[in-house]
Amino acid sequence: MFRPHRFLCSSLRQCLVHTFGTNASTSRNGESLRHNMGDSVTWDNIYTSKSSSGFSHFDWFCGYEDLKSFLLSLIHEMAPEKYTGPPLHVLDVGCGTSDVGLGLFQDSHIPLLITCIDRSTPAVLSMQNSLIKGDPAAPKHHESRLEYVEGDVTDLYDIPSGSVSLVLDKGTTDALLRSGREAAGLLLQEALRVLQAGGKLVQLTDEDPDARLPFLEGVGAGPTVTFHDLGDKKGIAYYAYIVTRSS
Ligand SMILES: C[S@@+](CC[C@H](N)C(=O)[O-])C[C@H]1O[C@@H](n2cnc3c(N)ncnc32)[C@H](O)[C@@H]1O
Repeated sequence: MFRPHRFLCSSLRQCLVHTFGTNASTSRNGESLRHNMGDSVTWDNIYTSKSSSGFSHFDWFCGYEDLKSFLLSLIHEMAPEKYTGPPLHVLDVGCGTSDVGLGLFQDSHIPLLITCIDRSTPAVLSMQNSLIKGDPAAPKHHESRLEYVEGDVTDLYDIPSGSVSLVLDKGTTDALLRSGREAAGLLLQEALRVLQAGGKLVQLTDEDPDARLPFLEGVGAGPTVTFHDLGDKKGIAYYAYIVTRSS
């Protein structure tokens, strides 16, 4: 059974920790966020306020270090030993100002083209600026590239069908579900369209399997969804749901 309430409360707890603190005005902010996390203005405000206070990265939950070994092993599964082909295309949909794209760029022995997409202008500008003005980020593989692009992840019209190896969705479907299932379903359909055969969509979330699996199957992910328990962080369990594009 779909249980958005449980997901919302736990995600909101994380957000309160990272964004608003715990005082009285915080509760009002948290309540407002609870109702508005599907709205673009909400995210613009969060990223504007974070960037004006000089942050470099803000992850909604679990940053790159928490996910590093899981994500790198997924990428290694997709490329044979001593891979010499073109960079694998990785999309981080709804990247915000997460450090996941940058971490993969710096650590992957396999060449990657990492495209991080978000519709929030302040988030994308902040990440583009950090690449231009911050310490130069060196890729592990000399052919790897990292880019931050403004766009709507429910309509990835610039990205050819069958061209992507891995789509990462960390918290974005969670946010889209706040406005109903339609946009979250569109994101899933677009991910399946751009993925090549055997490519994977990975949704990282704190939503329980008894809620997320029926949702994924209901919006067309097919019966091949697997999930992995990523363990607890601050008392909250996180999961990775993996949808593999059939041939
Ligand atoms: C819960 S946050 C997760 C951000 C980041 N992945 C992280 O883990 O910190 C959801 C993100 O999705 C973005 N987003 C929501 N709807 C979107 C859409 N239709 N197109 C692109 N980005 C979207 C928001 O701007 C926000 O940055």
